[in-house]
Amino acid sequence: MSQLNCIDDAFLLIENGLIKDFGKMNDLKSGIQNLKSEIKEIDASEKFVFPCWCDSHTHIVYAASREKEFVDRLKGLSYIEIAQRGGGILNSVKKLREASEEELVQSALMRINEIMMLGTGAVEIKSGYGLNVTDELKMLHVIKKLKTLSPLTIKATFLGAHDVPEEYKSNKGKYIDLIIKEMIPRIAEEKLADYCDVFCEEGYFSKDETIKILQEAFGHGLIPKVHAEQLSHSGGIEAGVECNAISVDHLEYTNDNDIAALKNSSTMPTILPGAQFFLQLPYPPARKMIDAGLAVAIASDYNPGSSPSGNMNLVVALACIQYKMTPEEAINAATINSAYAMGLSQSHGSIAKGKKANVFITKEIPSLAFLPYSFGSNLIETVIINGKIQPAKNKLPD
Ligand code: NIG
Ligand code: FE
Repeated sequence: MSQLNCIDDAFLLIENGLIKDFGKMNDLKSGIQNLKSEIKEIDASEKFVFPCWCDSHTHIVYAASREKEFVDRLKGLSYIEIAQRGGGILNSVKKLREASEEELVQSALMRINEIMMLGTGAVEIKSGYGLNVTDELKMLHVIKKLKTLSPLTIKATFLGAHDVPEEYKSNKGKYIDLIIKEMIPRIAEEKLADYCDVFCEEGYFSKDETIKILQEAFGHGLIPKVHAEQLSHSGGIEAGVECNAISVDHLEYTNDNDIAALKNSSTMPTILPGAQFFLQLPYPPARKMIDAGLAVAIASDYNPGSSPSGNMNLVVALACIQYKMTPEEAINAATINSAYAMGLSQSHGSIAKGKKANVFITKEIPSLAFLPYSFGSNLIETVIINGKIQPAKNKLPD
């Protein structure tokens, strides 16, 4: 993870939305004369060209913000206390059930455009604010629609096991049955999701319940993911590894046994610095994991409750500042490793021949480390998705 190959004075050739070639400028010179009339040239002198960020964990389909809970936390309440008072995930569920599909598409599209201009080229989006058949399907249909409206590569995750809805609070088993017997088969049949995720946490879903749901989902072709060890050590990593999850995410309460289990797996440990920072949780042991030889990914967790920001530049900076990841490690974590965590490492997450031409060009900056060092500044000048320069747009497409 500490190695990030860079080429000084380089060219990057894009054709038909893909990276056709790259290398030293001198090596292009010989072949460029016959190309010159056909290509649009961008001068990136003194600038850096990066592969776009891959954001492998978001909840950006939601109906309303939750800054009231944020203020309540500033006044001393915890995330769990707020949830117990009717805030938290179930607050978002109430709002989402009242919103129309079209409203949800429009607001999510604004967020997607926002993160695209911040350099994100691929994003995973979860359901999990519906928590009944109709509204979980509604969320997944919104995600499907977003795929047609946005140039970003989008992956969909079914998160019916995000919380137990009010109407099933006294009978969680019955809600799990609904997930297993109705939701998963419908979603699989309509091909609405690539992944199935579970919030494995005290007061939400136990390790055994997580395994039960993920195994059922896997049987229907949905690849497992887990919200693991965020607020307590609840066995989410072990559940994920046992179910061959593609990723386990959050990881604040990861212990040494978990690190050993991850070492023998193909599961990507994914840290969400925005949520850890916003909720002021303990630091996940990123350094320990990397030093143990694990690959680590980072993602934004963009959602209205625990991380109302999808800015991957800030996520990279937080990973460096808080967990002592080096700029190279954090950039690898936010590109090729997060691409892996969303099944896209063959096509995204690095500058390589044949991969998608999803890159961003910075403003003039003196070095690679300047990017996380300048936390909070937007240093991105140009975003290219599928080989096309993206116009900054604050308004929705007509
Ligand atoms: O990833 N941890 C559970 N789910 C979200 C929070 C969702 C919410 O508060 O709305 C998370 O942090
Ligand atoms: Fe999440």
